[in-house]
Amino acid sequence: MALPALRAGPRAAWMQLERILARVFAHDANPLAQLGAVACLLLLLLLISGIYLYVVFDTSATGGWRSIDTLSRQQPFPGGWLRSMHRYAADGFLLVTVLHLLREWVLGRSTGFRRASWLTGLPLLVFVYISAMGGFWLNWDRLGQYAAVASAELLDRLPLLTAALTRNFVNADAVSDRLFSLLVFIHLGVPLLLLFGLWFHLQRIHRPMVVPARALLLGVVGTLMLLAAVLPVSSQAPADLAVAPTALAFDWIVLHLHPLADATSPGLVLVLIVAVLLVLLALPLRAHASLPVAVVDPDHCNGCRRCVDDCPYAAITLEPHPNAKPGMQLAVVAANRCAGCGICAGACPSATPFRSAQRLATGIDLPQHSLDTLRRQLHAALSHASGRGKVVVFGCQHGAGVATADTADAIVFSLRCSGQLPPAFVDYALRCGAGGVVISACSMGACEYRLGSRWTAARLAANREPRLRRSVPENRYRLVFADAGDEPALAAAIAAAGDGRAAAVRS
Ligand code: HEM
Ligand code: SF4
Ligand code: SF4
Repeated sequence: MALPALRAGPRAAWMQLERILARVFAHDANPLAQLGAVACLLLLLLLISGIYLYVVFDTSATGGWRSIDTLSRQQPFPGGWLRSMHRYAADGFLLVTVLHLLREWVLGRSTGFRRASWLTGLPLLVFVYISAMGGFWLNWDRLGQYAAVASAELLDRLPLLTAALTRNFVNADAVSDRLFSLLVFIHLGVPLLLLFGLWFHLQRIHRPMVVPARALLLGVVGTLMLLAAVLPVSSQAPADLAVAPTALAFDWIVLHLHPLADATSPGLVLVLIVAVLLVLLALPLRAHASLPVAVVDPDHCNGCRRCVDDCPYAAITLEPHPNAKPGMQLAVVAANRCAGCGICAGACPSATPFRSAQRLATGIDLPQHSLDTLRRQLHAALSHASGRGKVVVFGCQHGAGVATADTADAIVFSLRCSGQLPPAFVDYALRCGAGGVVISACSMGACEYRLGSRWTAARLAANREPRLRRSVPENRYRLVFADAGDEPALAAAIAAAGDGRAAAVRS
């Protein structure tokens, strides 16, 4: 099953992997779908354990190693245990950040409206690397010595410095308290920069998921706690610049660049790092398909702010309405932030198909995929004798292929996102003669536009405006979470809806 996905390209293979993990972990604990949130959790664990370590840490060149080694030996709990947590959380943070980048890359999320998220994410990766490496330098054991000297050799290849950094490590006397203060400053300052950068990174994301789902959160914290208890981290012998360190218990996750530099040359590794960063920086320049942009119709917008609350990319703001009625506001879309998902149209109170006007004019809509067109097509399909009694399927174009559901028993409508559908369309389809209605959304973590599936489920369950009317019989419609590849689940939902067996999935 994985091989055909691989042949279909990295995106399909990645989605397939996520689907497998979603089955293993259950949808809301799928780690690959929440990598940003897991990274935030690991950052929090690093800050908490780091504060404890800083309290006992002696920031002098001679005292650094002693203070941490003593902590581990004399106070295995909580001191040594927190120290181990700090190390494992740093490893995890770097791994998860790289995986997060890889996911966004493979899913093609470096261009268009996501360009800003991509470009603000890149410095974070650099900060994570530097912070993690800095932890090893501070420990100032043989491994820290190796990492510090190797990092200095790498930086010396940069044509920026007038004096070689490696001169600070020629002998024990060269490692002054001043140099050590600089190392402490880097290890504390860079994470602060990281926090600041993270704030920027999340500016364009409305309601960013910064806390993983409960099951995943407990899993991550529990694993780290266990790892720290079972495999406590200990210091190696104190640094001795007279001796070249050998037989190091190595941290391959953070320090992998140094052996590569040993095997090749620091200059080559530096060129490699710069090349990778340049490629990552250039990715957003690639051409991308132009997306529809939501357009507001001032005559039908009353400034209720539902679209502002539901937009996943903070693309809508409210401004004073040009009709100058006191206190009335108008939605305004920032085109460069708009993903063209249509979730705002699904949220707008004016987007009800029961309106008698010949053209369904709504407060906000995607002109190229308008709700007016959807209503006309739906009406036309159901008013035809061959359409009556069929199951109407409203499916997300990113999820299970709705085209495969276009059978003799179903009439299919493909949406930009399931969240584009105002719930009143379910009621409308049934009143126009549909035998049942299926709304096909992607699973929560797989929603292309982050919040579409969540809002769809909440609106149908009448937990969020606009609500599906309670009078709509639950056995006449069904919400199915079916990602690309889950076509059998969609087919089963259609069959159940056709039998009148459909029970709504409540969120
Ligand atoms: C410290 C490291 C990082 C943290 C903590 C972090 C965290 C997050 C979080 C919480 C989100 C919002 C997820 C959601 O609610 O859907 C996000 C989105 C995103 N991140 Fe990161 N991120 C980090 C690094 C990066 C890096 C290195 C890149 C790539 C260069 C990146 C690219 C993106 C993109 C493109 C999105 C938008 C996803 C979307 O539109 O659905 N991030 N990040
Ligand atoms: S189409 Fe999507 S991204 Fe654009 S304004 Fe509407 S909800 Fe926001
Ligand atoms: S949901 Fe509709 S009416 Fe409300 S602010 Fe947005 S466009 Fe205007």
